[in-house]
Amino acid sequence: MWHTTLFLLVVGSIDAGIVEGSATHGPGSAAPTLAIAGLWLVALGTATAAAASERQLRRQKVDLASLSAMVARLDTSDGAEEIPGILLEELCATFGFERGVVLASPEGDLRVLAATDHVPREALAPGLDPLIERVWTDRAPRLVREIDPAIDPRLGALFPGSRNLLVVPLFHEGGHALGAVVVERGGTTSGLRRWVVSMVAQFVAHAALALHNAWLTEDREAQLETIRGLERQLRAHNLELEVKVAERTEELRETIQHLQDVDEQRRRLLAHVVQAAEEERRRIANDIHDDPVQKMVVLKMRLELLAKANPDLPELDDARDAVLGTIRSMRHMLFDLRPPILDEEGLGPALRYFLDNSEIDAAWAVEDELDTEPSTQTRVILYRIAQEALTNARKHAHADEISVKLQDRDGGVWMGIADDGVGYTPEGSVVAEPGHLGIAAMRERAEMAGGWCTLRSLPGAGTTLEVWLPMEEEADQHMPTVDEGEDVAMAVSPMRIDRIA
Ligand SMILES: Nc1ncnc2c1ncn2[C@@H]1O[C@H](COP(=O)(O)OP(=O)(O)OP(=O)(O)O)[C@@H](O)[C@H]1O
Ligand SMILES: [Mg+2]
Repeated sequence: MWHTTLFLLVVGSIDAGIVEGSATHGPGSAAPTLAIAGLWLVALGTATAAAASERQLRRQKVDLASLSAMVARLDTSDGAEEIPGILLEELCATFGFERGVVLASPEGDLRVLAATDHVPREALAPGLDPLIERVWTDRAPRLVREIDPAIDPRLGALFPGSRNLLVVPLFHEGGHALGAVVVERGGTTSGLRRWVVSMVAQFVAHAALALHNAWLTEDREAQLETIRGLERQLRAHNLELEVKVAERTEELRETIQHLQDVDEQRRRLLAHVVQAAEEERRRIANDIHDDPVQKMVVLKMRLELLAKANPDLPELDDARDAVLGTIRSMRHMLFDLRPPILDEEGLGPALRYFLDNSEIDAAWAVEDELDTEPSTQTRVILYRIAQEALTNARKHAHADEISVKLQDRDGGVWMGIADDGVGYTPEGSVVAEPGHLGIAAMRERAEMAGGWCTLRSLPGAGTTLEVWLPMEEEADQHMPTVDEGEDVAMAVSPMRIDRIA
């Protein structure tokens, strides 16, 4: 405008003679006017071009502002669901597109994620149109004047009667194709400014990034949710297991308690049986001593008197010898039934006495290191076990040496009996061989008393027996002790029998 005003002013000044024209030109010459008109035209052209680029710059500024507004919306969006809609809205609002669609899916197939009105979303059939494939291969937007449904049936169905479409590939930055955005400008004029195409591509690239990230986040969240679900299941399962374990533990505890009760009863019963057997042995010993032995002694004395009175009858001496032999056998029997030395002198001396009288060929030694003598019951049990082990050594081992050791150990009494005989292979089974009850009985007796009994043997390497019994308080014995049953003890004492004999 100011150019034109300036031009008119200059022309007016020349006409009025205010401004002098060229000296060579006379008044009324048109040359200066033409020169000025030329200059004016140049100035006008320059000004128009400047105005146009200024408008374009302003326009671009607006587009860029829209782009950053869309990025801000994408950033605050609620997830992948919203992003395609935001993209389409912004594209249409910024560039004036009439129709548009966003085709993509996390699984790689194309689905309509967002569409403007007048786009029949349900029209999209599975598959890929060549046009989409082309933009994917080129990785660049493509302008299409109209869609030929015969070539691109899916896009044709989405955009019936389309005009001037821009197809932009949706790529994860530097990665794989996610889908495509198709927008329609409509109208009759074809083509789009390069700036618009590149700006649309920018919008789409930002949205692609946001979409990809949102899908990743959703995927992670889904995985996290699955993990959380599994964790919940695991915790519930754990809880269930813990309850079950607690129940089973309780059941087990009750069962163990029950077994312990049964075992305790069994032990008490066995103890009772053993004690009863011992008492019975003692009673029988007393009876044998009080009656048959006394009578035999009397008989022997009478025979001696008769032999003195009838020296001519040597048969009386034979009869006396026979009676003496019977008395000796009875003495052995009495000792086996209940060795009085066990009560009178203790376990060590009783074992020495047993070995002395047991016709064992091997050399033997008894090392008694006990500080205190065990209770009567413990003594009897250990004596019976030793009796069986030493009898086994005599019967089976063919040993050169047998050693017996007695020690105080771990609050109880430990007894070890070892021979260097032929040895054998002990059976792993706890069930005794029929007719061979000695070892089983040893174990039973030890366990009955709350102790243990082990037997180690190898063919050619001898046999070692170890027994441990807890030290028991002296129980209220039903069997008479030496003090309280002096008569009985004396009666069954081998010394007493010797004296009588
Ligand atoms: N000290 C040993 N040396 C070698 N073999 C042995 C010894 N002690 C036991 N045995 C072997 O173990 C077997 C079982 O012994 P166990 O005392 O149970 O029965 P037994 O002595 O045969 O019969 P019993 O029932 O009269 O004791 C014996 O037959 C013998 O073969
Ligand atoms: Mg035996």
